[in-house]
Amino acid sequence: MNQTDKPHQQASTLWSSRMAFILAAAGSAVGLGNIWKFPYITGENGGGAFVLVYLACIALIGIPVLIAETMIGRRGGRSPIGTMRHLTASEGTSRGWRAIGWNGVIASFLVLSFYSVIGGWSLVYIGKTAFGAFTGVDADAVGGQFGALLASPVQLLIWHSVFMAIVIFIVGRGIRGGLEKAVKLLMPILFVLLIVMVIYAMTTAGFSEGVNFLFSPDFSKLTTAGVLTALGHAAFTLSIGIGVLMAYGSYLPPNVNIAQTAISIAILDVAVALLAGLAIFPLVFANALEPGSGPGLIFVTLPLAFGQMPGGIFFGTLFFALLLVAAVTSAISMLEPVVEWLEEHKGANRFKSALFGGLAIWFIGIGTVLSFNIWDDVHPLSFIAAFEGQTVFDLLDFLVSNLMMPLGGLAIALFAGWAMQRARLPEDIGLQGAVYDGFMFVLRYVTPAGIAVVFLYNLI
Ligand code: PFF
Repeated sequence: MNQTDKPHQQASTLWSSRMAFILAAAGSAVGLGNIWKFPYITGENGGGAFVLVYLACIALIGIPVLIAETMIGRRGGRSPIGTMRHLTASEGTSRGWRAIGWNGVIASFLVLSFYSVIGGWSLVYIGKTAFGAFTGVDADAVGGQFGALLASPVQLLIWHSVFMAIVIFIVGRGIRGGLEKAVKLLMPILFVLLIVMVIYAMTTAGFSEGVNFLFSPDFSKLTTAGVLTALGHAAFTLSIGIGVLMAYGSYLPPNVNIAQTAISIAILDVAVALLAGLAIFPLVFANALEPGSGPGLIFVTLPLAFGQMPGGIFFGTLFFALLLVAAVTSAISMLEPVVEWLEEHKGANRFKSALFGGLAIWFIGIGTVLSFNIWDDVHPLSFIAAFEGQTVFDLLDFLVSNLMMPLGGLAIALFAGWAMQRARLPEDIGLQGAVYDGFMFVLRYVTPAGIAVVFLYNLI
């Protein structure tokens, strides 16, 4: 083992408490996936019935991989690449499993390159709402403003750069001084902002319609595609399969119970998704807007609602601040595997690793910036029918969300369930007896089968 390839053993490089880790991992999980995507796909897939399937998927696929990935990370105590190199040797398994580490670091690098561009939109919308850009304007004008933002490479580049600078700054300051401080401050703010939004939503005429839309199960509306969407979203929303939890797990003190911790993280993540739905849909219905309008739901329909409601400047600014907080705490988690690997492999100090890793990601992000304007007719893989008309951004999103994340999750479940030696697992995971046996059954059979089905579905 070379000198830069040591596990984190000093207390100062570990999370200071179980709570700090929970906030950081929940910060990673809670993001655009919860606030934008979850309400929208719920609306499209039959409301309450879809929510029940999504909850089952969180329990049977999300939580087992969350536990396995964190456990692997703590056991390895290094970056995802270093951890897998170490564990394949110490567990006596095939070296092929090392691909899990590489897949994680590369996927988190790529996902941040486009997540940052979208994170930049929330910065723009905080400013626009605060300065009253939407007050009293009509739907066409709001849509026009969103279109104008996407059409401007300079604007997108500026806000992508600002967003990446925030992320680099936080990650560069280290685990305790940067990530931990940021999530301890930002996650409670996120909760308070969400609750304020839900309380406001309760006062609108659309509240009961919103609650119905989210929670009344109508199984006749649930399709096979809906079930698969729920499965895929359960993985994305918990940030599993991408090395992030392995990296965060490597800083986890040995005495923390991983199973209990993972369940707390999943509960927080689901709570935020449900609260976001309760905050957003009443506004949509009270203003007779279209619930299933995709990216437009947040950036087009909601500003319209904010522009018309009393106190709209306040609540609108609050809402986009919330989106920014959620996006930042997810983005810092995406930079961590890359930084941890640079520190370990290149021996660079933390700040330099964050700066160089972040700059490289920023550079790749320019591809996404241009996808919305100058390169909007560049379709690199259009010679393959399935990718016809897909921009650089569409392809990156597909590669990470539909290929690298599910494959990573599948490999993690198989590695922990089948390849690792069993002796220390119950203690490492924090489960015993029949509960442990039940968990292992799910991890070995149910989870891989579930992921394989989603993966194949997304491919065809
Ligand atoms: N879980 C985040 C969300 O729901 O928005 C997305 C995400 C974060 C994906 C971190 C991947 C990742 F590594």
